[in-house]
Amino acid sequence: MSSAQIGLIGLGTMGAMLSLNIAEKGFPVAVYNRTAARTRDFVANAGELAANIVPAKSLEEFVAAITPPRNIILMIPAGEPVDEQIAALRPLLDGDDLIIDAGNANFHDTDRRARDAAAAGVPYLGIGVSGGEEGARHGPSIMGGGTQAAWARVAPVLQAIAAKYEGQPCAVYMGPDGAGHFVKTVHNGIEYADMQMIAEIYGIMRDGLGQDAKRVGETFAAWNGGPLRSYLVEITGEIGAATDPDTGRPVLDIILDRAGQKGTGRWTVIEAQHLGAPIPVIEAAVTARNVSAALATRKSGEALFGAAPSGLPAGAVSDAMLESALIAGKVMCYAQGFDLLRAAGTAFGWSLPMPAVAEVWREGCIIRSAMLNDMATALADDADRNLMFAPYFADLVGRHVPALRKTVALALTHGQPVPALSAALTWFDMMRTGRSTANMVQAQRDFFGAHSFERVDRDGAHHGPWGDQA
Ligand code: 6PG
Repeated sequence: MSSAQIGLIGLGTMGAMLSLNIAEKGFPVAVYNRTAARTRDFVANAGELAANIVPAKSLEEFVAAITPPRNIILMIPAGEPVDEQIAALRPLLDGDDLIIDAGNANFHDTDRRARDAAAAGVPYLGIGVSGGEEGARHGPSIMGGGTQAAWARVAPVLQAIAAKYEGQPCAVYMGPDGAGHFVKTVHNGIEYADMQMIAEIYGIMRDGLGQDAKRVGETFAAWNGGPLRSYLVEITGEIGAATDPDTGRPVLDIILDRAGQKGTGRWTVIEAQHLGAPIPVIEAAVTARNVSAALATRKSGEALFGAAPSGLPAGAVSDAMLESALIAGKVMCYAQGFDLLRAAGTAFGWSLPMPAVAEVWREGCIIRSAMLNDMATALADDADRNLMFAPYFADLVGRHVPALRKTVALALTHGQPVPALSAALTWFDMMRTGRSTANMVQAQRDFFGAHSFERVDRDGAHHGPWGDQA
């Protein structure tokens, strides 16, 4: 009974939602989960979509349910479980059956699995899927990596289930092997930075201005009607408005300030360091999550040094100024993410479709934002130029950096940590400094290690007169 057009393994939240999405778009989908009870419950709750879902109790039954050549999506935890699942599945498949890893894989793993698959002559795809539960159910953003032939085979299904931006599906082929998962990793790095900068602005509102959660929520909700319009700003507005049913207090106030992470932000930073690509805003955001985890130490620090004085001078900060600061910070963190993608594309020989990356993030994903359409336009104009130097964004940044500077200066003066916003500002200042202080670093390197330096007035490698003039 090979009636399904596609198969999906792993009925956790994302897998279940993706299966319903596939079934809803008219593709009969075979589903399998390690625990059969979950498969049973899933189908029992699928309503009329159950007619398009073929549940399987064993891997053999699952494989038999899919029409060859089979296309099989894995939506299971990243890492070893994927290798184990592939090892269990491959012996049951034909040579032209395609395995698609749709989890948050480390792109190095996807590279390795793609190489192994190529050596065995079988097709393999690694796709980044963003949008959380809601996105998976009603339209995620999909970043594909692998062979073009494998992508072409499943593109009709992926494009049908993906989010649409003005009718255009947010499902795009990024390049070979781990390219799709790399783009998804950088998406998550930007996600971390965007979230952290919002949290820092919230900190200024809460601790500097004494605003309650409701007021914070109202401001973000209002900002979502302007240049900051984005999913993360929208949900921040809703979060501020939410009340804890048990205590009647704002939900924000009862949430412990210790942020988790599954690793994709950290991978972004690690890869950026390997590639020598500066992404200081994303680095600051990952570091801030690590610092947040050290809750007990922070509490001891507060007992020892005292908390920073709360309260900013009356009238020193306006909503408009904070909005403006966030606009500038947002452009910087996206610009750094695109720089990293460019560096990776060159280093790995991927030729990533830069404007299409911005396009695929316009809908469905967590970092979707009104700015991404203008970013796509700027990258289409010149994909090799840092986004901040594109005329549209140079003008935007020029107009909003003064507010970022005032915000960061005030926060720092009053002891309020703003690691990502200050990293954005410092990066801006570094990027507009034609004569930096690296000449001093070069002098020191040459002094203690005879590493040599270049001169401003002559070609070649030179050494200083160290010692001679002591
Ligand atoms: C997405 C998200 C998602 C990610 C969560 C949690 O694009 O849908 O990036 O893939 O898993 O945001 O990530 P952390 O646990 O690392 O914060």
